[in-house]
Amino acid sequence: MSIRKIFEYPAPVLRQQTRPVTVFDDDLKKLAEDMAETMYDAPGIGLAAPQIGESLKLIVVDMTKGKEGKRDYMVMVNPEITRKEGHQLDEEGCLSVPDLTSKVRRFKRIAVSFQDLAGNSHELETEDRFAVVLQHEIDHINGILFIDHLSPLKRALYKKKVKKWHAEAA
Ligand code: NI
Repeated sequence: MSIRKIFEYPAPVLRQQTRPVTVFDDDLKKLAEDMAETMYDAPGIGLAAPQIGESLKLIVVDMTKGKEGKRDYMVMVNPEITRKEGHQLDEEGCLSVPDLTSKVRRFKRIAVSFQDLAGNSHELETEDRFAVVLQHEIDHINGILFIDHLSPLKRALYKKKVKKWHAEAA
């Protein structure tokens, strides 16, 4: 396993359309393990393949629910939201959007269809915080970042801040 570089906004790979996973082999397992390693190193509670520069429909999500020192994660291949209901507002941040957290409006309850690393199909229903994490990660594989859900003003302020960092680093 290895820790991979996390791409940050405005890296183009974060905006690209991703390819569905069609081959369920050892390379896919290794990629998912690298993603988990990278997520726990950061640390984060979810990571999507485009965040490490791979344009694939693949996400990993933490399942430890805050228990320290444990690693328990779920790999979801080709995840898709199949049902959504209600609304909630919760604080979000993103490893690819440094130094920003903000409240984002999301669906309260969702159903997600996905495959595991062996290619078997599953459906999962969830709500509250875990539903937020899944909506955030599934957005990533569709080229969407959580800042896209913010007001134009908040987004413009963040863009300005990033431009300033880049100018200072140059
Ligand atoms: Ni993110």
